[in-house]
Amino acid sequence: MTNQRIPLIAGNWKMNLDHQQAIALVQKLAWSLKDANHDYKSAEVVVFPPFTDLRSIQTLIDADKLELGLGAQDLSKFDSGAYTGEISGAFLKKLDVKYVLVGHSERRQYHNETDEVIQAKTAAAFRHGLVPIICVGETLEQLENEGQSAVPIRQTLAALAGHEKLGDFVIAYEPVWAIGTGKVATAEEAASVAGKLRAAISEAFGSELAAATRILYGGSVKAVNVAGFLRSPEVDGVLVGGASLDAEEFSGIARFQKHLAL
Ligand code: PGA
Repeated sequence: MTNQRIPLIAGNWKMNLDHQQAIALVQKLAWSLKDANHDYKSAEVVVFPPFTDLRSIQTLIDADKLELGLGAQDLSKFDSGAYTGEISGAFLKKLDVKYVLVGHSERRQYHNETDEVIQAKTAAAFRHGLVPIICVGETLEQLENEGQSAVPIRQTLAALAGHEKLGDFVIAYEPVWAIGTGKVATAEEAASVAGKLRAAISEAFGSELAAATRILYGGSVKAVNVAGFLRSPEVDGVLVGGASLDAEEFSGIARFQKHLAL
C-alpha cells in the first residue's frame, strides 16, 4: 500500500522562549530549511510556541510567506465566557493556528487532565476546525503493570469516543518515561505501538479512517535518532520537545526524507 500520510514534524517548545526569542528561532529555522531546499509537501513542519508568541509568529509567517505551520500547546474545552486564564479554540483559529496539542502528559500530570477533559478538548478542537494532536502514552509504572500499548490504546479511544462526527486528528505516542529523560523507546517499540494504535482505531472506526490517521512518536527525539522512527511505515512523524528549541537540530530532524527511506 502506498503511504498517503504526509509526515508531520512537530516542535513543542513547552514553556520556553518569549515572543522575541520565538521570532529569532523561527527565522533561523526557516532559513535553515530553505538552505536545505526542504520540500514542505514531503514533510510538514509545525512549531508549537507558548500562547504569547503566537501572534508574532503568525505575523512573521505571513510577512515572509513561510511554509512553516503554526500549532498551540493547549486549548479550553469551552468556547468563551467566565473561564479566567483559558484560551478558546476560536482565538487560535483566528491566528491561523492549524494544530493543537491535546492531553500532553505534562497536562495530564501537572494539571490533572483526565480522559474526560481530553475528550472535551478534542471536541472543542473539532468545533473550531483545529486538528488536535492527541497525546497518549504510559508511565513507567503502567509499562510494568500493563505493558506498552494498553494505556495508549485506552487513552486514544477515550479521546475519540462520543463525538457526533470526528474531524481530522493526529495521535502522538509519547511514552512518559521517554519525555525529556534522554531515554528513548526503540524504533521497533514505537512502530509496534503505532501499529497497535492503528489496529484499535480500525476496529473502532473502520479501516479507512485508520489508514488515513497519522501516528507520531515523541520522547527524546533528536536528529541522530529520528531516522530509526521514521523508517517504519507505521510512524508518520515525530513530536519533538527539547530538540525543537535549537533551530539547526530541529531542522536536521525535519530534513529526514521519509519518502526516500520507505
Ligand atoms: P522531549 O519532549 O523531546 O524533550 O522528550 C517530547 C514532548 O514532550 O513532546
